[in-house]
Amino acid sequence: MTTMKRKPLVAGNWKMNGDKALVADFINTLDATNAEGVDIVVCPPAVYLAAFGDVNFAIGAQDVSALDNGAHTGDLSVEMLKEVGCKYIIVGHSERREDHGESSEWVAEKAAKVVSGQLTPIICVGEPLEVREAGDDAVQGFIREQLRALTSKLSADELSRSVIAYEPIWAIGTGKTASPEQAQDVHAFIRSELADTDAEMASGMRILYGGSVKPANAQELFGQPDVDGGLIGGASLKTDDFIAICQSAKI
Ligand code: 13P
Repeated sequence: MTTMKRKPLVAGNWKMNGDKALVADFINTLDATNAEGVDIVVCPPAVYLAAFGDVNFAIGAQDVSALDNGAHTGDLSVEMLKEVGCKYIIVGHSERREDHGESSEWVAEKAAKVVSGQLTPIICVGEPLEVREAGDDAVQGFIREQLRALTSKLSADELSRSVIAYEPIWAIGTGKTASPEQAQDVHAFIRSELADTDAEMASGMRILYGGSVKPANAQELFGQPDVDGGLIGGASLKTDDFIAICQSAKI
């Protein structure tokens, strides 16, 4: 496979946390941070998106509808999120798959909708603990199924305008980070699976790691050859920690 230099990306997923004061804190501190060499994205709850205004980092949403504007109470469209300044949208986070019964096919529909709206989906994949405990073959089989839903819905060109995040569910919010080797193994596997669709798209794909990333472990994780940054939960709620993690992703 040809190697391509990929710009690291660090995205903070606030989940259902934060308030106006945290938005102000991020505007004041993160905006003053030198963001050269890394793409930085903050994904607050949707009600706070518009409050960010003109900042030197990108903002993103945590979810989106796969449908156009219309009679879908409680949902938000790509068009709306774009209008309030989003550049990225997380789709298929394991918490949404679990809390809202989102299937991999539905996640692929959402990703395709985001790409067609000229925004970048951050598409999450990752296995639960029982699959990890069943061994490497089980992990690969699980991830392969999640990826197949994507490659059968999105073209190589659409995928080349997407980002993938590997988030092992057992590492989310647990303090149990995947070891750099475990992360690298799955990231390399994801890239090789994508190469079956298109080698150039696969080598350019940014694959983020998510799951208990902290300032203390970020550098080692991001130093793996197929780890192109991170999707950060808990540590993205503290400006100091998040900035430190962003700095460790720089090439
Ligand atoms: P934590 O960093 O809190 O483990 O969350 C990871 C995550 O789910 C980011 O989307």
